[in-house]
Amino acid sequence: MKGIILAGGAGSRLYPTTKVYSKQLALIYDKPLIYYPLSTLMLGGVRDVLIISNEETIPHYRNLFGDGSHIGMSIDYAVQDAPNGIAEAFIIGADFIGDDSAMLILGDNIFFGNMEFYYDAVESFQHGATIFGYRVQDPERYGIVEFDKAGKVLSIEEKPSKPKSNYAVPGVYLYDNRVVEIAKNLEPSARGELEITDVNRVYLEKGELTVEIINRGVAWLDTGTPEALLAASNFFGVIEERQGLKVACVEEIALYKKFITRAQFDELVASMPKSAYRDYLEKLELE
Ligand code: DAU
Repeated sequence: MKGIILAGGAGSRLYPTTKVYSKQLALIYDKPLIYYPLSTLMLGGVRDVLIISNEETIPHYRNLFGDGSHIGMSIDYAVQDAPNGIAEAFIIGADFIGDDSAMLILGDNIFFGNMEFYYDAVESFQHGATIFGYRVQDPERYGIVEFDKAGKVLSIEEKPSKPKSNYAVPGVYLYDNRVVEIAKNLEPSARGELEITDVNRVYLEKGELTVEIINRGVAWLDTGTPEALLAASNFFGVIEERQGLKVACVEEIALYKKFITRAQFDELVASMPKSAYRDYLEKLELE
């Protein structure tokens, strides 16, 4: 399975920072936001990743991750000329996806907690589309799924003014290879974007949309505003300080997932400047 991180967008709510680079480089406690979705992909076993962003920000991502080989990954980059919609990721990424299935994760979506729901979905994924449902108190802001009593999906709507449920669709989506053709055939929505919700509706109409509910023990954060960035920073600061363990530390995950050997890991850590981040990795003992 190929992985795509969509990490561009207008980011106008974070102006003036986003005048210089896209918000997925903003600091969440001790590391850039994009580390969190990247680590979600890595934990799902995805090693081939395409990062899509605007022209100004791609060089920054290249500086951060290079070709990804230091963490046992293959990382490519592609430019999205304008924020034409989330589903455009599959058109831009068509060659990268090739004949494979694809997981898309939005660069501002963070998951933390018991991730069994995700591991199970990735492991059992064969065809169609698998998305998730997460209870929120402000459903007008998201893609929303409606179920019947038996859990069958009845509808999916983007930012409905009268939401039919409180279950939002988080920004992580698993699709079979048909997603590329589906994206190419979409019409822009009223707000002028190729909507991911329209992709999901095509799968729903084919009877091939699976929605897995994420239980309340999982934190799903999206980080579009200064308040949300601060809240996420505080959240991960509390967790990391309490446990003495880092969240979304991609070097640690690369070692844990055996994407790199201990010798490669040690060499990588030795190349880092003196910092709390390096100290943490030097002391790391994987159980
Ligand atoms: O966070 C989950 C929600 O993400 C879903 O529930 C919605 O169905 C989905 O449409 C999306 O809603 P948002 O309003 O949060 O989307 P937003 O326009 O903020 O874009 C999400 C991220 O993707 C953001 O980090 C910017 C990036 N992006 C977005 C667009 C439209 C791009 O890189 N390029 C784009 O063209």
